Amino acid sequence: MSENLEFPEGFIWGAATASYQIEGGVGEDGRGESIWDRFSHTPGAVVNGDTGDVACDHFHRWKEDVALMVELGLGAYRFSVAWPRVVPDGTGPVYQRGLDFYDRLVDALLDNGIEPFPTLYHWDLPQALEDAGGWPARATAEAFAEYAGAVAARLGDRVRRITTLNEPFVSAILGHLTGEHAPGKRSLGDALATGHHLLLGHGLAAQAIRAAAPNADVGIVLNFEPKHPASDDPRDMELAEIKHAHMNRWFLDPLTGRGYPEAGVAAHGWAMAEVRPPDLGDIAQPLDFLGVNYYTRHILRHEKSVAPVNTTASARTNDMGWEIYPAGLAEILNWVWDDYRIGPMFVTENGAAFHDDSDAAPFVDVDRLEYIREHLQAVHAAIRRGAPVEGYFVWSLLDNFEWAWGYTQRFGIVRVDYETMERTIRESGRWYSKVARSGVVGSQ
Ligand code: FCB
Repeated sequence: MSENLEFPEGFIWGAATASYQIEGGVGEDGRGESIWDRFSHTPGAVVNGDTGDVACDHFHRWKEDVALMVELGLGAYRFSVAWPRVVPDGTGPVYQRGLDFYDRLVDALLDNGIEPFPTLYHWDLPQALEDAGGWPARATAEAFAEYAGAVAARLGDRVRRITTLNEPFVSAILGHLTGEHAPGKRSLGDALATGHHLLLGHGLAAQAIRAAAPNADVGIVLNFEPKHPASDDPRDMELAEIKHAHMNRWFLDPLTGRGYPEAGVAAHGWAMAEVRPPDLGDIAQPLDFLGVNYYTRHILRHEKSVAPVNTTASARTNDMGWEIYPAGLAEILNWVWDDYRIGPMFVTENGAAFHDDSDAAPFVDVDRLEYIREHLQAVHAAIRRGAPVEGYFVWSLLDNFEWAWGYTQRFGIVRVDYETMERTIRESGRWYSKVARSGVVGSQ
């Protein structure tokens, strides 16, 4: 495509990271243990036995990282706050020293004209709360609200938008059903209870944030994947519909006052014992914005779920084995807007893992650049059709600890050398920088 696509005035160009994936400094300034510390140190849990103990050493190199963002011309930075730095034991005293780190980061970003876009929970639950029952226990939702209020009280005078949770679907399902993520449980009952308590935690936290920081906008980040039937066989179509309910609608419906999707509840055989009468009201707090994370789509055949079956050019994959399907991002944005009328939306994560051809600069990552370009074209198409999308955050600013995959997967527009911690802007980063400065996605 050779057309130059101009994005609306004021569109926010950002990049995203998450605390456990980049910070390191796990034992510093009083930080408590998180479920990811415990899980990553469990033999066999993470590829190569990798851990986030050092990660990108952002805890010590944050100034350098802010300078990188300035060099890239970013307008916003989405990061997450590590709950165990702020409330090391999960409940009880708030550790202002832990919050100092984020306080300084926020100030440095603002000094450089970069909007801080914090997320309060990107999966690093304090281990003490896990020991007390974790997300399957209702008390964790209440503890989350207290922590959220404490962060809002400290940062809410300067931070314009606060996001409660990142991808509750992944916390619930990968953390509690498939066991691929911390805390590594394998129980549908725990997964469903977790999902509900995450939503309740969001609702209670939204109220606590609004009480502590009345000027801040409150939102949540959900992950979405189009669920496409492999054929028009009714069994494929039914399966795709159920998966759509389980992933795409499971959190969005209760958040918007519709309750849990019935077909999805029936398919899970969920008795909903944990859902108390006032919960659905608490969950359906008004959303000031919605964060949309998008990476790929999913094709379903009733015997099994399948990798891309189409023979078109879109059957490309990244290093994670995820199909590259840019049209799915427009499909999701349009669906959310058409069916739920939630806005504004931000694409809070989108990006791709590709290895470098060589370990020496220059890092010419054409695959990643094209991935981002094609997805921005999809965002532009959705905006043109009416979806109120006000910003885009590439995942990720830096290569980082990719959860169960450890350091084997590189998502950064900036390369990190894990031996020296040197950061080098990749070709995709240089290109994205031009886009961020001009607001135009061109063919060059
Ligand atoms: C998302 C996570 C993010 C990162 C990307 C690749 O599900 O939110 O932390 O791992 O996937």
